[in-house]
Amino acid sequence: MSDSRQVLLIVYHSQSGTCARMARAAAEAAGEGGEVEVRVRRACDAAVTDLAAAGGLLLVAAENAGYLAGGMKEFIDRVFYPAIDRELLLPYALLVSAGNDGRNAVAQAQRLLRGIPLTQATEPVICRGEWCEAHAQRAGELGEAFATGLSMGVF
Ligand SMILES: Cc1cc2nc3c(=O)[nH]c(=O)nc-3n(C[C@H](O)[C@H](O)[C@H](O)COP(=O)(O)O)c2cc1C
Repeated sequence: MSDSRQVLLIVYHSQSGTCARMARAAAEAAGEGGEVEVRVRRACDAAVTDLAAAGGLLLVAAENAGYLAGGMKEFIDRVFYPAIDRELLLPYALLVSAGNDGRNAVAQAQRLLRGIPLTQATEPVICRGEWCEAHAQRAGELGEAFATGLSMGVF
């Protein structure tokens, strides 16, 4: 039997493991209700074909040196024109890990994604400081909210 659920694609880039943990927390919460099919890809492994198969995109990455982490930037740069060619109009959400800021990473990701253009489904979430339970909770809440919205067709 074919699976008619929307696909929520979670793409992450992580150096130390923090963003990987955030992506996992978001994925677990998003998949809990079974409303959507959750697919998780590292940014270096993700392709425009993954985007084309998805109903929504959650990006998880850090701010490094006042910029969106390079691994995530490389992913967006790589799929930018192929996504435009395919006229992909996905809703997206951003989950950013940062030492003490994160706003530039958000702004740069928004600028790039506007160019495709993908549409922002929810307010970006920035988790600052060391990995902690509060970050797991915020990542989970974002994943769950995005999954629910996708399954209800609100984006
Ligand atoms: C080279 C480097 C540059 C960083 N620059 C910033 C920065 O500009 N602003 C900030 O808030 N945090 C900065 N950080 C902290 C990271 O955003 C934070 O440690 C994040 O959790 C890393 O996630 P990841 O290891 O999963 O990629 C930097 C960390 C590194 C290693």
